[in-house]
Amino acid sequence: MALHDHWVQERKHEHYYKLAKKLNYRSRASFKLMQIDDRFNIFRDGDSVVDLGASPGGWLQVAKGRVGDRGKVVGVDLKYIKPLDGVTTIIGDITEDSTMRELLEVVGGKVDVVLSDMAPNVGGHYSTDHARSVDLCMYAVAVCDRILKKNGKMVMKVFMGDMMDSLMEELEPRFASVKIHSPAASRDASSEVYIISKGFYASRKVKLSNAPEEEIKPEFTSKGGNI
Ligand SMILES: C[S@@+](CC[C@H](N)C(=O)[O-])C[C@H]1O[C@@H](n2cnc3c(N)ncnc32)[C@H](O)[C@@H]1O
Repeated sequence: MALHDHWVQERKHEHYYKLAKKLNYRSRASFKLMQIDDRFNIFRDGDSVVDLGASPGGWLQVAKGRVGDRGKVVGVDLKYIKPLDGVTTIIGDITEDSTMRELLEVVGGKVDVVLSDMAPNVGGHYSTDHARSVDLCMYAVAVCDRILKKNGKMVMKVFMGDMMDSLMEELEPRFASVKIHSPAASRDASSEVYIISKGFYASRKVKLSNAPEEEIKPEFTSKGGNI
């Protein structure tokens, strides 16, 4: 990257970082979700929302603010999430069946919106980071299959790469509209993009494993197959 581009990118990073601090948001990422919502109208008053990869809680703050007092927001993360008024949190790994079960229990029905800002620990090896990111996205899709309402919406982060087509092939049969978007608050050099999907067709019949400790392994199929 040219030195000037790097400088511009760092300034932008710093700008959103300072703004988050000033406005009491827990992460710079908050602005990405605000910008996505402003453009794609994700949240409505009273909506129920599940946020995967929610720590430290910036997206939870934005979601809660936008769905209002009647809305219900649940966040899941491997890491601790400092309590937030009106938000329920689950500490767990969404790739584990036990976390999925806890989520189903806490939510107790279907939700209007599924968010995922999940990111793998990046190791600097581009294609491995991409593959891990797509894998997490597949788990987020599996969550939609279980708890997203008909006509529900999903916003999901992914690191771009050559498996994007497989991911889109999973999303397109499930949603009426699937769009890739990069909000202004994303760093220019970052390979991350957000996939905004709307109009979930219906939940498929997904078999729940009987053994709680058994892992749920989503399959990659070109037909948008079940997990
Ligand atoms: C970019 S951060 C999310 C930031 C958050 N949206 C915010 O605004 O505060 C990505 C999060 O994904 C979480 N994560 C990664 N893999 C996960 C998994 N398998 N299950 C649950 N959370 C996961 C990480 O622990 C990390 O906190």
